[in-house]
Amino acid sequence: MNYIIKKNYKLDDCLNIFNDNHKNFVFDKNSITDKTYTKFVCVDEHDTVLGYAVVYPHNDFLKREEFNCNYFCENDSIYIWHIIVHSKYCNCGVGKTITNAILDEFKGHPIYCAIDTHNIPSLSLHKNLGFEIVNTFTQLFHGTDTTFSLLRHI
Ligand SMILES: CC(C)(COP(=O)(O)OP(=O)(O)OC[C@H]1O[C@@H](n2cnc3c(N)ncnc32)[C@H](O)[C@@H]1OP(=O)(O)O)[C@@H](O)C(=O)NCCC(=O)NCCS
Repeated sequence: MNYIIKKNYKLDDCLNIFNDNHKNFVFDKNSITDKTYTKFVCVDEHDTVLGYAVVYPHNDFLKREEFNCNYFCENDSIYIWHIIVHSKYCNCGVGKTITNAILDEFKGHPIYCAIDTHNIPSLSLHKNLGFEIVNTFTQLFHGTDTTFSLLRHI
């Protein structure tokens, strides 16, 4: 399949994908329509939205997420707030295509994401593309004690 990345595109379809496959790993639906964030949206040749990522291009993301994580993030850090692929299109390389587009766009910047340690698909996706775990922390998150890995890509 031919995948194309468009920015801040068809956000209503992204909202539908959030509803379809957030799996209780992703909670911040408002970030899709909040202009502070850049949306990387993957479409196919029929312009159908297959998946998207929300990127927060500032280094204060740990504070913004309200994470209890003591880690120094460089001034030029980028943070992948979340990524979701529609359940119909999972395991077809969409997540990889979106993440590679973010890595290309922000080449030279440290790129971070925080992933629930139970989220094996997301951990594998990011590790396969060169992200490394730099910190692990546990906290109450949306009512559940959750352990996160903080991952970094240079
Ligand atoms: C995580 C997610 C975005 C991956 O998207 P995807 O399009 O299915 O991923 P891809 O097909 O591009 O796969 C890329 C890599 O991810 C990993 N992966 C994807 N699905 C996996 C699964 N079910 N189990 C284990 N690894 C998996 C593999 O390492 C895969 O590489 P490979 O194909 O070389 O083995 C998708 O599963 C999803 O939307 N999950 C629900 C929402 C979510 O948890 N988002 C992340 C929040 S941090």
